[in-house]
Amino acid sequence: MDDFENFTWGVTIAAAQTEGAYLADGKGMSIWDTFTQKSRRIKDRSNNQIATDFYHRYKEDIDLAVDIGLKIFRFSISWSRILPDGSGKINQRGIAFYNNVIDYCLKAGIEPWITTYHWDLPQRLQDKGGWKNREILLDYENYVAILRDHFADKVKNWILINEAIVCIGAGYFLGIHAPGKRGIRNFSASIHHMLLAQAMGFKVLKEKENLNVGTAVSCTKIEPFTNNFSDKKAADRIDALMNRVCIEPYLGLGYPEKELPLSKRIKKFVQEGDMEALKTDFDFWGIQTYAREVVKGAWYIPYLGAMLVSPKKREVPVSIMGWETYPHGTQYFVERFARYDPKKPLWLSECGIALSQEEDDQERIAYYKDVIKGVKKVLHKGIHLKGILIWTLVDNFEWAEGYVPKFGIIKMEENTLNRKMKKTAIWLKEYLLNIKL
Ligand code: NOJ
Repeated sequence: MDDFENFTWGVTIAAAQTEGAYLADGKGMSIWDTFTQKSRRIKDRSNNQIATDFYHRYKEDIDLAVDIGLKIFRFSISWSRILPDGSGKINQRGIAFYNNVIDYCLKAGIEPWITTYHWDLPQRLQDKGGWKNREILLDYENYVAILRDHFADKVKNWILINEAIVCIGAGYFLGIHAPGKRGIRNFSASIHHMLLAQAMGFKVLKEKENLNVGTAVSCTKIEPFTNNFSDKKAADRIDALMNRVCIEPYLGLGYPEKELPLSKRIKKFVQEGDMEALKTDFDFWGIQTYAREVVKGAWYIPYLGAMLVSPKKREVPVSIMGWETYPHGTQYFVERFARYDPKKPLWLSECGIALSQEEDDQERIAYYKDVIKGVKKVLHKGIHLKGILIWTLVDNFEWAEGYVPKFGIIKMEENTLNRKMKKTAIWLKEYLLNIKL
């Protein structure tokens, strides 16, 4: 119990998945607003124009989080609500909306945390090439400075970019997320620019004293299918891509060229001074992990030479996302991050599992209980893990998967959008009450 005294539970949401109101009060179009207009890209043919309507229901949602006993409310800011054209004129109604959210959190006694970027680039910037165009560095820097000037007096904890590898991998390599770009050049340029932009964003925020600024990285446990050389090398490559590319340049270790030959492609976009500029002393790392993947060598797959062995074939528990349910990943990655130098406080800045509508939530409760077991172990080892942010509060728009996977601990009625606590929320409320004793 003692270990948990300073351990904090919160919740996290993202603008494009929850806000809706996609054109309200002067907001510009984002790449997700555009992407979902071609509905065949989204599995259930849905879009995020209304989503969970957080824009109009934020008070109710914040109240629910407080009622459950959560202490942190992490939300992302929609760039195109603040700057409808991505740069230029500020939309004061957008600023007012986030001020309302922040003020309501503070009044309700839950700490607001800001994510500056959770995948919804203004369409106007995409029209100029988006993350592929190096000019994005200045646009992002300018945007972050605006957020700092308007919100940093009231908000102390900031996460810059959410899951760069997934954002760029799915959006600029595989083309399954907005903006639907594919290919190695798109990927290599975009990932480098995004990482560099984040380093610049860090400096911009740190101009203000006493801010606690980190990043949130996607982590996927990777294992080789067999112990043969080819599978082990393939696993090293995928691990380097998924779990190192977006971390090690900040630590001054560069891109993982030895394990990941694709790094050479990224390096084509590195200009003089970039590797130095990437070095960043984040105040904390946000770890976000959901699944384990098993890979085998496949020489015929371009750039990666690897293939995933589907979890269904491996006969392991699989969630509705098609991912192996792997709560032990949290402990694994927390311990792995604890070995990086310099040592930094760690957060599980997202944590959750998707079920289908019909399920009665026992699997989700079991998932969180397993995560807690891992958390206890790392705390006993003296690792500086500060807390967990639940992914997510209300069932929401799960990107290309639409509304089918249900990650929320609160259910949303399809037609009325009314909220109702699921068994996990009720269990969590009870749990949080008791650990305070
Ligand atoms: C990662 C992302 O940050 C979030 O947007 C997504 O919904 C969840 N994980 C689940 O896939």
